[in-house]
Amino acid sequence: MNIILLGPPGSGKGTQAKMLMEVYTIPQISTGDILRAAVANQTALGKQAKECMHKGALVPDELVVRIVEERLKERDCGRGFILDGFPRTVAQAEALDRLNIKIEAAVNVEVGNDELMKRLTGRRTCRTCGAMYHIYFNPPRRDGVCDTCNGELYQRDDDKEETIQTRLVVYEQQTNPLISWYQKKNIVYSVDGIGTVQEIFGRITEALKKAGLSA
Ligand code: AP5
Repeated sequence: MNIILLGPPGSGKGTQAKMLMEVYTIPQISTGDILRAAVANQTALGKQAKECMHKGALVPDELVVRIVEERLKERDCGRGFILDGFPRTVAQAEALDRLNIKIEAAVNVEVGNDELMKRLTGRRTCRTCGAMYHIYFNPPRRDGVCDTCNGELYQRDDDKEETIQTRLVVYEQQTNPLISWYQKKNIVYSVDGIGTVQEIFGRITEALKKAGLSA
């Protein structure tokens, strides 16, 4: 069961991938999370990725493809995986094809730019467990503190308004073309990304059923 989550920054890919992971018992592979960990740990990869991420630009294809290729060899991917934030360019999608990995569904979560801006500027993430909050839509019980583990909540470096604008433009130019690329393979399932997290989860699981993928 190999699934791709497509959709612009802030459309809820990470939120939904974590829920899908529980239900389908396959791992979420988020290239953004892997890259942020590399930046935080100041690894060689992190040093190469940092500047691009800070500006809201994409990290070079060859770096990201190498990360994903290695990750997909791990045992937990044996039953399938959810790719969150990869591929992001046609070159990355072509690289995935070259690995001979069959993708059954590319779920495209649709959300307009005004809503994306609200979601991203208000997002807060737990430094310890990665739980996600939103200062208006899903606030923690205590300001700045994770409900689950009491970890510190932080705002992502690239969630500043100006950087978000850049990320949205980069999405339109470099990632949006993947929708028609996967449409040619007949595996795109578009879902309305406006509504509660649970409503959207329901739409995605329905779409996956249509693709022949049940939990
Ligand atoms: P990445 O981490 O992948 O960021 P992104 O694609 O920009 O996506 P986000 O994580 O910002 O949003 P999301 O869709 O996951 O939404 P979320 O669930 O968090 O990439 C970051 C950077 O890394 C890139 O800019 C690039 O530099 C680099 N990179 C990564 N992958 C790469 C690749 N393949 N190639 C090259 N470079 C790469 O939700 C957002 C907020 O909304 C949260 O606060 C959440 O609580 C809230 N929310 C979610 N659902 C709802 C809802 N239904 N209603 C209200 N609020 C909601």
